[in-house]
Amino acid sequence: MPGVQNKVVIVTGAGAGIGAATARLFASKGANVVVTDVNEEGGQETTEAITKAGGHAIFIRQDVSSEQGWKDAVATTVSAFGGIDVLVNNAGIYFIRSLEDTTLEAFNKLMSINVTGTWLGAKYVVPELRKRGGGSIINLSSIAGLRGSANHTAYGSSKGAVRLMTKDLAAELGPDNIRVNSVHPTYVKTQMADQGAAASGLSLEEMGKKFSPLGRLAEVDDIANMIVFLAADESSYLTGSEFIVDGGGTSVF
Ligand SMILES: NC(=O)c1ccc[n+]([C@@H]2O[C@H](COP(=O)([O-])OP(=O)(O)OC[C@H]3O[C@@H](n4cnc5c(N)ncnc54)[C@H](O)[C@@H]3O)[C@@H](O)[C@H]2O)c1
Repeated sequence: MPGVQNKVVIVTGAGAGIGAATARLFASKGANVVVTDVNEEGGQETTEAITKAGGHAIFIRQDVSSEQGWKDAVATTVSAFGGIDVLVNNAGIYFIRSLEDTTLEAFNKLMSINVTGTWLGAKYVVPELRKRGGGSIINLSSIAGLRGSANHTAYGSSKGAVRLMTKDLAAELGPDNIRVNSVHPTYVKTQMADQGAAASGLSLEEMGKKFSPLGRLAEVDDIANMIVFLAADESSYLTGSEFIVDGGGTSVF
């Protein structure tokens, strides 16, 4: 059983999808969870589900691309739980568009959330991790951060940046006992897979067969399990690494 008992964990974008499942899993294992999201309704829903199940969680409305938003989120977390042990940089947006149909505005917006948001999270949480003698940061990249796909110049380059930022952070923060790893899912059954299905004209079942020899897409808990493991004491020698949770797709096809 991974050891995250009593750890204070921030999960961004925890109002839906992978982030919501991750927040619930952390709480079920005894962590104190800070659910953040721009979507207030989704964030409150995740937080209420955790507290109803007997877990500990608070909700903070946060836009991860805002520097002030990070300062406020860190201050609120420390005042609620006394410190921070784990940061899950999960919030992200997706779109599938050809190069010429991608506007500069859309490209910059995606970068500001997927890349700048991840960097700001590390920048403002790391001083708190140092005060605890170490910690773990888990960044959500994607298989799109490992290999090219048509119509993915914005999303793919953002996830490639997250992959290498993870390794840069691991190099810089290892001496402070702060571990930093990236997680690379294939399509997971959230609204992002629905976007993929709509763009390709395939059903989710057909996408499962296309993307994994296991013949199915990932469930949110497939990804949450990896994230919680990377936060736990049992993964204490893992840093700077990329964890591909893709049902074997990038190895086999
Ligand atoms: N679902 C997939 O197929 C898939 C595959 C690979 C990687 N990922 C990555 O996993 C992460 C989670 O994806 P998901 O599928 O759960 O997405 P989702 O859209 O279901 O949930 C993302 C959450 O992030 C929140 N969010 C968006 N912009 C934000 C902002 N500026 N500040 C704070 N919160 C914000 C949204 O409100 C939403 O609640 C993303 O980083 C995504 O790129 C997802």
